[in-house]
Amino acid sequence: MNHAQRQPAVAAADWRKDFPILEQTINGQPLVYLDSAASAQQPRSVIDAVARYHREDHANVHRGVHTLSHRATDAYEGARDKIRAFINAANRSEIVFTSGTTESINLVAQSFCRPRIGPGDKILITHLEHHSNIVPWQLVCEQSGAELVVAPIDDHGQLELDALRSLMTGDVFLLAVGHVSNALGTVNPVKEIIADAKQRGIAVLVDGAQGVPHMAVDVQDLDCDFYAFSGHKMFGPTGTGVLYGRETLLEEMPPYQGGGDMILEVSFESTTYNELPYKFEAGTPNISGVIGLGAAVDYLQSTGMQRIADYESGLHDYMVAQLARVDDVRLVGSAANRAGVQSFLLGDIHSHDLGTILDHQGVAIRTGHHCAMPVMTRFGISGTARASLAFYNNRDDIDRLIAALGKARQVFK
Ligand code: ALA
Repeated sequence: MNHAQRQPAVAAADWRKDFPILEQTINGQPLVYLDSAASAQQPRSVIDAVARYHREDHANVHRGVHTLSHRATDAYEGARDKIRAFINAANRSEIVFTSGTTESINLVAQSFCRPRIGPGDKILITHLEHHSNIVPWQLVCEQSGAELVVAPIDDHGQLELDALRSLMTGDVFLLAVGHVSNALGTVNPVKEIIADAKQRGIAVLVDGAQGVPHMAVDVQDLDCDFYAFSGHKMFGPTGTGVLYGRETLLEEMPPYQGGGDMILEVSFESTTYNELPYKFEAGTPNISGVIGLGAAVDYLQSTGMQRIADYESGLHDYMVAQLARVDDVRLVGSAANRAGVQSFLLGDIHSHDLGTILDHQGVAIRTGHHCAMPVMTRFGISGTARASLAFYNNRDDIDRLIAALGKARQVFK
């Protein structure tokens, strides 16, 4: 075996050691964690950064003249700089901290779209979207009288790009599209889609919740207007997220929420708002979570997103090949370009039953509709079993999954 072939396996073994949670047994078996698309595990450096902050530096940010407040503010704002560099935003003022992808998308729906759209306007989404990239648009359409339009997918779970383009009509105000499908793993050609939308004067939001953990993202290269993602899917704490927004657009948008920290001056007659990005960060933020997210970015940067993408691509191919060999397995989602996840069904076993039997063998997967019910409807099913990968997984994990599926078949024979 040459060096190039050996390197990924060695790297995975090393990475795995950084994640203490993976060292435990579940139901008497070493844990196999194949549910990172629901929530990824945190490396020791993230856990330590959060604990150190609580132990040594906790105070409110942007508000104090004392040393602890300065330290907390520096660490919190330092995380913003790390995120800016991580996604190559032009300016730190374009990085708004939120509670997650869901809040980021709702912010755009309510603050960017709602004041500007009305009857006769359209919001365009796709059939592949997670509920958090559907329901906020349904709400704003109900509120404004605008129409929600949905671009179709094919039997592989790929966007029908010609149909999508034909729906990019002059009355579409915004296109909201996922980077990677959480249910099927389809990687959408977002750069190409954004270019098409821009040509037609349509603003674009990318739901990057499942993109950022698996590949390098460059928002300037993509040329998107908004890019939303969550901390806990990229090895950081829950309750953290980011909205990247193009500065010129964020400047024009009214605040999403009112409260402390988002103002310059308040009187009963009028209030002036803080500069970007603070205009969108009302109230005391999730300080420790954001600091942990900064540590997650450090970890990812030092590991290298291209290395992660290359390693995971090989592991994903292995997982799909092994799953395909299991009798009675039906793979759901077969797009040419996939990342991170594979949905499947085993015979007529209900996915929840399958998930429970796998858990008895220490294998954690997600089951059900994956917050993407329209995708399930498109395939004529109510749910799937879904195995999802991160760079701390390895071939042994996949082999354990396959063995556990064999056991499940015996149980239900
Ligand atoms: N969106 C998360 C998932 O795909 C919860 O599992």
